[in-house]
Amino acid sequence: QYDVIVSDEPVVHKTILLGDSGVGKTSLLVKFDTGKFHSGSFSATVGIGFTTKVVTVDNTKVKLQIWDTAGQERFRSVTHAYYRDAHALLLLYDVTNKTSFDNIRAWLGEIREYAQDDVVIMLLGNKADCGLDRAVRREDGERLAREYNVAFMETSAKSGQNVELAFIAVARELKCRS
Ligand code: GTP
Ligand code: MG
Repeated sequence: QYDVIVSDEPVVHKTILLGDSGVGKTSLLVKFDTGKFHSGSFSATVGIGFTTKVVTVDNTKVKLQIWDTAGQERFRSVTHAYYRDAHALLLLYDVTNKTSFDNIRAWLGEIREYAQDDVVIMLLGNKADCGLDRAVRREDGERLAREYNVAFMETSAKSGQNVELAFIAVARELKCRS
């Protein structure tokens, strides 16, 4: 005889935002969470924290525990500790900052070193609203993503372009795998 426990509680998927300081990780999460964008002076994230969001994919609830990390070099060792049990990683660069794009290879190297082999990775070229200041072409982002066999989108935390879509795509992939 068995006691069957039926729960509506969705499984929690740990998702981490990564990328250089200033690429827009906090802005992207705030936009997704509240719909708001704060322009003005930039305050770098110190430490680490998470926001929980439930996304509906094909009538199924997928719960994302989204961790916002500090991009500054001096916090990297702290961040590494969070990679191991991550289910998904959103890796951001800033399309107006070529260095942040060039550093993606190093980020992917760290991911290979510290994260699980089957972690879901999504590369995001953020600040896509900044037409005139653009320093990285969309094709370059696409090519890099293809080279590493990861998904890719351009986003804007300011305009909201692809913000929900990026998280939904990750949730969909996580749902397929679980
Ligand atoms: P760290 O916490 O240091 O790792 O940086 P971060 O990646 O969290 O960057 P943050 O979200 O704080 O954004 C840095 C700056 O870029 C802020 O001034 C934001 O207002 C601005 N910003 C972020 N996303 C966008 C975007 O999509 N478009 C534009 N135009 N500005 C953005
Ligand atoms: Mg931040």
